[in-house]
Amino acid sequence: MIDGAASTLAALVGELASERPPRYAALAARIRLLIADGRLAVGIRLPAERELASALQLSRTTVTAAYRRLREDGWANARHGAGTWTSLPAGTAYGAWAPALPTAGVLDLAHAAPAAPPEIVTAFTAALADLPRLLPGHGYYPAGLPELRARVAQLYTSRGLATTPEQILITAGALNGITVALEVLIGPGDRILIEHPSYPNALDAIRASGARAVPVAIDAADPAAVAADITRVARQTSPRLAYLMPDFQNPTGLLLDAEQRGRLAAGLHGSGTVALVDETLVELGLDITPAAPLAAFARADLAVTVGTLSKTFWGGLRVGWLRAEATLIQRLTAAAVRAQLSGPVLEQLAACHLLDAAEATLRAHRDRLRAQRDSLVCALGAALPSWQVPVPPGGLVLWCRLPAPISNALVDAVRRRGLRLAAGPRFGAGHAFADRLRLPYTQPIDVLRRAVEILAAVAGALPATDPGFAPSRLVV
Ligand SMILES: Cc1ncc(COP(=O)(O)O)c(C=O)c1O
Repeated sequence: MIDGAASTLAALVGELASERPPRYAALAARIRLLIADGRLAVGIRLPAERELASALQLSRTTVTAAYRRLREDGWANARHGAGTWTSLPAGTAYGAWAPALPTAGVLDLAHAAPAAPPEIVTAFTAALADLPRLLPGHGYYPAGLPELRARVAQLYTSRGLATTPEQILITAGALNGITVALEVLIGPGDRILIEHPSYPNALDAIRASGARAVPVAIDAADPAAVAADITRVARQTSPRLAYLMPDFQNPTGLLLDAEQRGRLAAGLHGSGTVALVDETLVELGLDITPAAPLAAFARADLAVTVGTLSKTFWGGLRVGWLRAEATLIQRLTAAAVRAQLSGPVLEQLAACHLLDAAEATLRAHRDRLRAQRDSLVCALGAALPSWQVPVPPGGLVLWCRLPAPISNALVDAVRRRGLRLAAGPRFGAGHAFADRLRLPYTQPIDVLRRAVEILAAVAGALPATDPGFAPSRLVV
């Protein structure tokens, strides 16, 4: 929406005549929905009451009451003499989103974290044999082991983005890279554009950074709209950073092609927004290989890329990295060192061996994931035919649309039957996605089938309530 354009908002709100009275509550609910799913950006001015009333053919009192309701519920705030501005209510404080300890008899599909391949042991055996040559030194490598930085730089160069080792900082996984980048690039009150839905731990890190999240609704079925929508919202809100996953987005599976990446980078260039590109899932193309990194399309100082070995090899490695201009990498290293002087050497040596033999390991990993994905899709189709289950071309998860907003209730109910899942609202910045469920296909096929049996056994018995906008009921 163009700031202040009453007719644009009126078109988005649509016809209210069929809604249950009072009319002001229906109008507030429609606007709330537009903010929650990102069609209306956070932090923009709503049209003047008189203009919106005229565009919607409602009385001004109705619009005044609707705006008041939005303000009371946290979806808008008033700025003295400057109108009413969209905002997000605080939402549920979920706390840390970390995998639970394995429990006998419990199926854990709350996190998309594959088991380690056998090559991990081979890599650590080779790393141990390597270690003696490094033992005479002090063992501190604040930006990472030089040979690992060189290998990661080579990975980017081979993907079409020329990179030197000085442009790489080794981190303790992708999330660590994200928090280091936020620490350096974000100041209090800055805005960060996020895809909506998005990866919960990054959302949590963004919240903790003091930045304001500006959600943009994305739809994996419509990747062509993503660049235009993000560009529009970036122009309206001038975010400092945009946290993006162009390769099998978590949780939607969205994949942008080269042309879409080019348009997205050009759009962010227009608002001077730095793209913080999370490539955690980039190696997990099951039906397709992604285009060159988004950073290859962006101005060098407007792209920071995050990578990790957690999903390609194993989360237990805790090896990831940041890629940026060499001068920025120096600032990022200074920030990283404040929390951790240097990463573990043996893990980094093992990472070098894993990368050297990556092709065969990854081929087997992708084959396994493809078979698991297909079998989960098939089981869901047979047992829960009313669910919409788009098949992502890669990544680790399905993002299912449920026939009613029952995600939280469903997750509660299956937990009592020994199945752990993450409900849709986990992936939202406000109170959206009560009708979505993320299902990882990282477990063996028999576990996935058992999970579908449990889901099917409880799904039909749940009342089709709408807890989406009642924060007190958003319990995972
Ligand atoms: C999109 C995305 N980014 C980052 C991470 C965190 O990765 P790491 O374990 O390397 O910190 C995950 C893990 O699930 C993820 O899905």
